[in-house]
Amino acid sequence: DRVTKEGFDTFMEKEIREQPRAVAETLKERLDAKGALTLDELRIGAETFRGIESVIIVACGTAAYAGQVARYAIEHWCRIPCEVELAHEFRYRDPVVSVRTLVVAISQSGETMDTIMAIRHAREQGARVLAIVNTPGSTISREADAVLLTHAGPEIAVASTKAFTAQIAACYLLGLYLAQVRGNKYADEIADYLDRLSEMPAKIQTVLDRYAGSPDLGVDLERIKSVIFLGRHVGYPVAMEGALKLKEIAYLHAEGFAAGELKHGPIALIEEGQPVVIIVPTPRRPELHRKVVSNIAEVRARGAVTLVVAEDGDESVNEFAEVVWRVPKTPTLMRPLVDVLPLQLFALRMAGHLGFDVDQPRNLAKSVTVE
Ligand code: G6P
Repeated sequence: DRVTKEGFDTFMEKEIREQPRAVAETLKERLDAKGALTLDELRIGAETFRGIESVIIVACGTAAYAGQVARYAIEHWCRIPCEVELAHEFRYRDPVVSVRTLVVAISQSGETMDTIMAIRHAREQGARVLAIVNTPGSTISREADAVLLTHAGPEIAVASTKAFTAQIAACYLLGLYLAQVRGNKYADEIADYLDRLSEMPAKIQTVLDRYAGSPDLGVDLERIKSVIFLGRHVGYPVAMEGALKLKEIAYLHAEGFAAGELKHGPIALIEEGQPVVIIVPTPRRPELHRKVVSNIAEVRARGAVTLVVAEDGDESVNEFAEVVWRVPKTPTLMRPLVDVLPLQLFALRMAGHLGFDVDQPRNLAKSVTVE
């Protein structure tokens, strides 16, 4: 079927707005008659999953950032070492992979050549490959031993948005599935996490209702030449994804850093007027929250214009923030699903302001089918 913009100016805006549904559809109907979590196509037995000693996630671009988010959840829930690697780097460094390795390939298109080559290499070494893809029947889904589909619907804009949030949701299902078959978590704990996940589409909608219609998100877009993004814990990959969006569609220099790394270099970049986007963890994790709030103060003291993503009710950021984008109270591991939204919209507004073709940015392809 022909996919249309359905009244939106761009596919990217439409796809940003479709995220509540993309995540809800991805989470839908995952429990079998006995209430156990299920995946789509499974050609790996439970015994094999129980014997897995490590997980390696391979992907490119936005999908790799989704993988970086997922790593925090998979290690926390399953107590299995989990690495995330860009597919092209994985393939050529002679990685240590065995029959006890689960390689997870994340790809919207299922056709990214670098990711295809990575899974072929992994399978040659005896690893099991599980694919998280948005395109049923794609090369990666056909070559994998198991498939978990993201039901984001077709993504047309080159810059990935709804695929990212759907990929995180799917990775979390995988994490909970592994915890279930390996007995790391009790059934009621898994049900509890699933409940919290199922609350995310409504929270995503809340953030979109707040900001998707706002023309400039409160930022003076005129002054911006480069943007620094800071995040800690799961906020770190989100910071890198926010920077990627700006590079892709607004052709602006942007970089995401781990907030803790600030004093080890990036703070030297801060001068009067430098925009810095900071993702602030929930105050319910004071050990993370306190440090990021002091990062805001540090860059602000050096003249940065601070654009802050923070939870409702977290007033500690107000005195250091030029702009605050508010997200609902959300468990830490699920925060990326709402935190990324203002960053996607920021890139969209910036690219529109500069007059660029948001859906078809220069030099980029939706799916890179060459190595
Ligand atoms: C290209 C696209 C990105 C995408 C990446 C991975 O670089 O421009 O938006 O994140 O490929 O694509 P995949 O289809 O494997 O998720």
